[in-house]
Amino acid sequence: MGRRFFVGGNWKCNGTTDEVKKIVKTLNEAEVPPEDVVEVVVSPPFVFLSLVKSLLRSDFNVAAQNCWVRKGGAFTGEISAEMLANIGISWVILGHSERRLLLRESNEFVGDKVAYALSKDIKVIACVDKISDWRNIVIAYEPVWAIGTGKVATPAQAQEVHSALRNWLLQNVGADVADSTRIIYGGSVNGANCKELAAQPDVDGFLVGGASLKPEFVDIINSAV
Ligand code: G3P
Repeated sequence: MGRRFFVGGNWKCNGTTDEVKKIVKTLNEAEVPPEDVVEVVVSPPFVFLSLVKSLLRSDFNVAAQNCWVRKGGAFTGEISAEMLANIGISWVILGHSERRLLLRESNEFVGDKVAYALSKDIKVIACVDKISDWRNIVIAYEPVWAIGTGKVATPAQAQEVHSALRNWLLQNVGADVADSTRIIYGGSVNGANCKELAAQPDVDGFLVGGASLKPEFVDIINSAV
């Protein structure tokens, strides 16, 4: 089964209204392969989700960078999966290593978040357990030493880990899921190194940080073909 290339742009905690509008304009004007060839999802900070959703071209989707582990209520500062669904956000990034390291999010907690988001029909970019519906999951492999450092994994290193992850899926979940689940790479991906990484058989796309704020994000989308 063919896996549709996936490119996610994780804007992290960056941007002003003007900067966000500028990035969206660049994306809206970009010539990229059609939706059935590459799936593009950008992930602005919470405060810009609605703005980006309203301005962004309709063939690109928008993801939140986190959501609460269960139904909302007395949880100051949190955003629930229901709220994301309510404003038309269909994706969320969960379990990013920055949150695991800085905010001490455990595997268990992230796993619960993933299960809850999936139960509310939000698709997840994640690397976790407790997944019951693999159709709505993209797995992101991001070596911590490569995040924001300019030190990208070599294509061979990425391929080795992606292939091991796919093998894990094969052994532990099943052949269909192993064949169809997209495993994407993140960590210092840029316009210059994306092509070689994208050529690896088990690299099904990228989760891009720094370069997703720049026009070269379009080159990364175009590495799909
Ligand atoms: O989520 C993407 C990310 O952690 C990679 O960041 O800046 O190394 O592309 P960066």
